[in-house]
Amino acid sequence: MPLTRKAYRAAILHSIADPAEVGIEASYEYFEDGLLVVDGGKISALGHASDLLPTLPADIEIEHYQDALITPGFIDTHIHLPQTGMVGSYGEQLLDWLNTYTFPCESQFGDKAHADEVADIFIKELLRNGTTTALVFGSVHPQSVNSFFEAAEKLDLRMIAGKVMMDRNAPDYLVDTAESSYVESKALIERWHGKGRLHYAVTPRFAPTSTPEQLTLAGQLLTEYPDLYMQTHISENLKEIEWVKELFPERKGYLDVYDHYQLLGERSVFAHGVHLCDDECARLAETGSAISFCPTSNLFLGSGLFNLPMAEKHKLNVGLGTDVGGGTSFSLLQTLNEAYKVMQLQGARLSPFKSLYLATLGGARALRLEDRIGNLQPGSDADFLVLDYHATPLLSYRLKQSNNIAETLFVLMTLGDDRTVQQTYAAGALVHQR
Ligand code: GUN
Ligand code: ZN
Repeated sequence: MPLTRKAYRAAILHSIADPAEVGIEASYEYFEDGLLVVDGGKISALGHASDLLPTLPADIEIEHYQDALITPGFIDTHIHLPQTGMVGSYGEQLLDWLNTYTFPCESQFGDKAHADEVADIFIKELLRNGTTTALVFGSVHPQSVNSFFEAAEKLDLRMIAGKVMMDRNAPDYLVDTAESSYVESKALIERWHGKGRLHYAVTPRFAPTSTPEQLTLAGQLLTEYPDLYMQTHISENLKEIEWVKELFPERKGYLDVYDHYQLLGERSVFAHGVHLCDDECARLAETGSAISFCPTSNLFLGSGLFNLPMAEKHKLNVGLGTDVGGGTSFSLLQTLNEAYKVMQLQGARLSPFKSLYLATLGGARALRLEDRIGNLQPGSDADFLVLDYHATPLLSYRLKQSNNIAETLFVLMTLGDDRTVQQTYAAGALVHQR
């Protein structure tokens, strides 16, 4: 980690609040000729270059990026590492897709060499796409999480992950037991939770693949350790929801299953929530739980359209998720491109500043990390991106016609992808250069 001070000069944009709460204009700060000062892996100052330059020592190193935009690193609140090799698998919806493609692909992660290889590919892909923090599903094998955290630790990344707990309704080669999932999760928590910038998430796959005993033990882990995360899936697909009703007839609905086993809370993130009802949104909000909105996955798997306005009505924390490999891109820019269309299909608008919020500060709030990541306030971790206005010929030409930062931002989210990310910095260190 560089302990020296360094400054970065470019156009700089970050979210400071949710546009749904404060209106668009008060939700962001934009410095057309801005300066970001980094000291010991943290941001020490942010402002107009003209204000800050006179305050800096004469010999400070300044990196000046022309025709580029500095933003906070992107936050992916839902992604599966062991599905990296099956992105874009044809033809099925959720339950058949799991059986046909997902489970066989995930079966390989007990093998250390394979887990190491994919962890390396996966982290490079996150950083190429500007994702500096992700909430990551491993496979059922602890090795998948060990390989991931070992690779993330080397780069001092802020990452959250967990071993999947699944003890029924899956092939024999991929299930654990309630007891083994508890013991293995505990060992991973002891080894990794709170180490550097790493955090652990208790990870029951979804209600259908866990017995009541396993869900009970997942809830118990959350009470045994402070600040643990919980991640799972909810209400993604109509057949899945029917199945949960058959498996848990004594519960009021899908969310009530998780509620009963004490899996809701401020560090709980539920992926999808496409078919949640009003009462379930209210209960999620009341418990401080968050939803990960995964538009490319919801379209690709034909799951449905997430109702963001309903979540906003309940003041529910929402982050953005790629859900690779149900989702089709590691890029949160491309994920926002699809999010916009999901809103269009419901007659709603997704403003570029709400999109920026979802990919950065909204994700940080969903993960209760907003004092460390999600924007560029002094004191935050120096996790930031340089987005290139000339990444492709079309982007370059289109942005020449742009009249303001709102238009520029929207075009970046519509045309942008991994090519747009020129540099990625984590804890002040350059971790990806295009
Ligand atoms: N529900 C349970 N497991 C999965 C998964 O791996 N991907 C998605 N999209 N939904 C799930
Ligand atoms: Zn998922």
